[in-house]
Amino acid sequence: MNNYAYKITGGNRLSGEVEISGSKNAVLGILAAAMMVDGPLTLENVPDISDVRVMVELCRSLGAEIEEIDVHTLKIDPRTICTYKASGSLVSKIRASYYLMGALLGRFGKAAIRLPGGCNFGDRPIDLHLKAFQLMGAKGARPNEIEAGIVNLSANPLHGAKIYFDIVSVGATINAMLAACKADGRTEIINAAKEPHIVDVANFLNAMGARIKGAGTDTIKITGVPFLKGDFTYSVIPDQIEAGTYMVAAAVTGGDVTITNLIPTHMEPLSAKMREMGYTVEDGDDSIRVYKQEGEEIYSTNVKTAPYPGFPTDLQPQTVVLLCLADGMGRMHENVWQSRFQYVPELQKMGANINVFERHALVNGITRFKPATVVATDLRAGAALVCAALAAEGTSYITHASRIDRGYEHIVSKLRSLGAEIERVDYEDPNEDTEA
Ligand code: EPZ
Repeated sequence: MNNYAYKITGGNRLSGEVEISGSKNAVLGILAAAMMVDGPLTLENVPDISDVRVMVELCRSLGAEIEEIDVHTLKIDPRTICTYKASGSLVSKIRASYYLMGALLGRFGKAAIRLPGGCNFGDRPIDLHLKAFQLMGAKGARPNEIEAGIVNLSANPLHGAKIYFDIVSVGATINAMLAACKADGRTEIINAAKEPHIVDVANFLNAMGARIKGAGTDTIKITGVPFLKGDFTYSVIPDQIEAGTYMVAAAVTGGDVTITNLIPTHMEPLSAKMREMGYTVEDGDDSIRVYKQEGEEIYSTNVKTAPYPGFPTDLQPQTVVLLCLADGMGRMHENVWQSRFQYVPELQKMGANINVFERHALVNGITRFKPATVVATDLRAGAALVCAALAAEGTSYITHASRIDRGYEHIVSKLRSLGAEIERVDYEDPNEDTEA
């Protein structure tokens, strides 16, 4: 299979403005939610990324009609959906395919979905998703009922339930919300995830007539409704993680960049850390400017990832790159995923001085990155390596770059508009790309 790499000649200070696209982790849940509607709807600010293209193809494979009005706008009509089964190869391409479990269970009272693909940062179970469905009356959600990797769910009827998640889970929260929208009676999700994308999916569901309260807090209450109406237009929120990645790219190149079309409060965990390190981070109404005052020293710090409003795990690799360039010893504690430091050996090829102990990384700062050929081990790791390559004097190659394009829209043109020297070059890759 012909893959490609990003060739980056670093050392330029990024400057200017870059606009953030729609949120990947919101739109994937929203596309699944759209499959529950009884009518056409229009979705705006959809990011032009490969995960969305896969999810759209998956929805089309169910029979939904999805028309691309333009690169960021979809007209969706799911009334032609003719099956509650999704088990083809598309399902294992992206993890978010599991949202169809909640959506199809809500729509049909049945769902037969292949278990999602694995990833490379440790175990990614879906036991909490299945527990929620089981509590709502679904059969087939017990581990011993899963045959040949297909989760066969049926509920007659699907009823409301009190669901306590002992681990905060974005996916399980969204999946439970989807099913609960059409369940008979009331559902309460306790210890729910509170990420911006959870709120966006809830707002989208409420736009179609769902009755969801408390999204963005620990407890979400849902009253099931028999019908979800279409005939509305919805715009996806800006991508918090894309925005944070450009904030880091600006900082590591010693640049001065204004990131626009974002929600500053969503960025506060990263903004606060960057200010603590010595960067200037100025919040606008829907923008953030990042730069370093002349003569300002940049000091290292400690970071602990946690569910929102904690520090986002999806900005962890990018922030380790920031720590590499700061004065002193920094620590990164990865508290969400079992192991999310697979990118460290790639950064070490570029001169990073990092020691990993299970979920902790000790980062010795004041590294001057040197150019190298490195592998994007997953989406956000790839983004971190792009940041390191932008800071490294000389030419680097980041292979398996299709993994970066899963979640970053038009990254080459966006970085070029800020003064980066980056281009896509062919690179033979025998391994089929799998979702990270
Ligand atoms: C979502 O994954 C995001 N993906 C991830 O972003 C993100 O890292 C993660 O949330 C945490 O914020 C999408 O939204 C498509 P979780 P998800 O369920 O929902 C454990 C990116 O780069 N867990 O919140 O799969 C799990 O193992 C991607 O955009 C269970 O034990 O994450 C993890 O330790 C990478 N049982 C923790 O919970 C379950 O049933 C959080 O996982 C579910 C999860």
